Amino acid sequence: MASVTSLSHSVEQRLASALSAALPEAVGADPLLRRSDRADYQANGILALAKKSKANPRELATQVVSQVVTGDLIKDIEVSGPGFLNVTITDSAIIENLGARYADAGRLGVPVADAPGTTVIDYAQPNVAKEMHVGHLRSAVIGAAVTEILEFTGESVVRRHHIGDWGTQFGMLIQYLDEHPHELDHKDSRVSGEEAMSNLDRLYKAARRLFDADEEFKTRARRRVVNLQAGDPHTLAVWQRFVDESKIYFFSVFEKLDMEIRDEDIVGESGYNDMLAETCRLLEESGVAVRSEGALCVFFDDVKGPDGNPVPLIVQKSDGGYGYAATDLSAIRDRVFQLKADRLVYVVDARQSLHFKMVFETARRAGWLNGEATAHQLAFGTVLGKDGKPFKTREGETVKLVDLLDEAVDRATAVVREKAEKVGLSERAIEENGRYVGVGAVKYADLSTSAVRDYKFDLDQMVSLNGDTSVYLQYAYARIQSILRKAGEARPVAHPELELAPAERALGLHLDQFGETVHEVAAAYEPHKLAAYLYQLASHLTTFYDQCHVLSADNAPEVVENRLFLVDLTGRTLHKGMALLGIRTPERL
Ligand code: ARG
Repeated sequence: MASVTSLSHSVEQRLASALSAALPEAVGADPLLRRSDRADYQANGILALAKKSKANPRELATQVVSQVVTGDLIKDIEVSGPGFLNVTITDSAIIENLGARYADAGRLGVPVADAPGTTVIDYAQPNVAKEMHVGHLRSAVIGAAVTEILEFTGESVVRRHHIGDWGTQFGMLIQYLDEHPHELDHKDSRVSGEEAMSNLDRLYKAARRLFDADEEFKTRARRRVVNLQAGDPHTLAVWQRFVDESKIYFFSVFEKLDMEIRDEDIVGESGYNDMLAETCRLLEESGVAVRSEGALCVFFDDVKGPDGNPVPLIVQKSDGGYGYAATDLSAIRDRVFQLKADRLVYVVDARQSLHFKMVFETARRAGWLNGEATAHQLAFGTVLGKDGKPFKTREGETVKLVDLLDEAVDRATAVVREKAEKVGLSERAIEENGRYVGVGAVKYADLSTSAVRDYKFDLDQMVSLNGDTSVYLQYAYARIQSILRKAGEARPVAHPELELAPAERALGLHLDQFGETVHEVAAAYEPHKLAAYLYQLASHLTTFYDQCHVLSADNAPEVVENRLFLVDLTGRTLHKGMALLGIRTPERL
């Protein structure tokens, strides 16, 4: 388990020390190294540094070049243009570096962060007694990927599924169930998620009908809300039945999503009930919140309604009730002071951005969020239909997540089946791969565009074998495994003494960037950059196959071994990267 310094970082260090030798005031300056078409890397940092010190950039660049030792790592370094440096790496350094990554099977040489901390991530937060929709899909998929990526960099991550399990809407449901206690009974102890949801749906509709038609029921339902908030044990017991029934459904959807959600990480809105009164007291005593028309409010200079009047964050309503904001503020106190979070991340729809802006600002004023603990909303955009409008069924209803996943799996299974005969897949394997490909397609489509952008949900495109899709990456992986199986006696072995073809170098230099990509992605919560990295990796692999035969009889044995080694490391990197995104890579496809 040794972490590997990337080639680009080693070059950067060499350039930085050559630079400070040539120009003492440039100590610690970044030479700004980038991948380049002309050489392996280009350093663009000299121009600005020369300008600052009133030196001639080309002269400074020439001086730097004369300070750089070449041979082991850097093969060639030359000045180009007005003062850029073009750097070429030795073939041996590339293979040695990759060999060290290959030897570290678990982490592929990726180092852990220098100073990891604790992150509490709030994601996958559906609502009790309600169907999950595509918005919940995004939160779950993005949140799970960010969680995996952060953990891989060494961060301690606490998951919080802030489900909507509290509020006045439960009064009607509880009252109805209390009057019809057998409505949620099960014939069988093994209830499917589908059945649970249809029970809840039926009950919701019946309760609604009665609520709208029967004034006396309405009164009883309203009284129920009061009992619920007062913590009446019987009312709570009935409420708990809704939560339990909903969890059966949630877990079934998460399982369909091939995602592990743990019961102990589900801490819904109700989990903060005991803190609400104190949260309000602290805010009022510190003057952060003020009473306005009976309600406890926090005002902001830059938050105004269309009429120009300030729109406050309401922490407590004038009737004494607490809402969404009080719960989120209490959750911040819990996460910062009990869970000792350094960072809070909220994977929530961009349409809730104003809410979080006000909640975070309130917590800052109260001193709960300060330099030591920070909060960030990882906001995501809306899922659109093929027509570019918010995703709805033809009847105009919101699309059920389950239907979507089922359709994705059906389509994917058809794609897998078409190729199955050639690969010799059993019916069971076809079905399993169909699930992994279908669910992977949905996750990848979600993760491969920047989260805040809206994206079009287009199943045809998602399961396409060409282009930036998970299927393309899964096939790249399966093809690698097939080559490794076909290699027979030949084994993957790194041979640093060999001269590399351009496509081998390009693939190798990209493999070298895996760790840096993961760390960048973790720091900015941008899984789409990992998806882009993996797609480029698969593209480099395709070019490599075109230009370099792996198992050709014309190859010297060490060339075969070295190419198998490159292919195998690419496979491991794809596998790890996809796993971080929550996507499986079947061995045969
Ligand atoms: N349950 C909410 C919804 O479905 C999302 C909760 C987001 N998390 C939070 N801490 N407010 O929109």
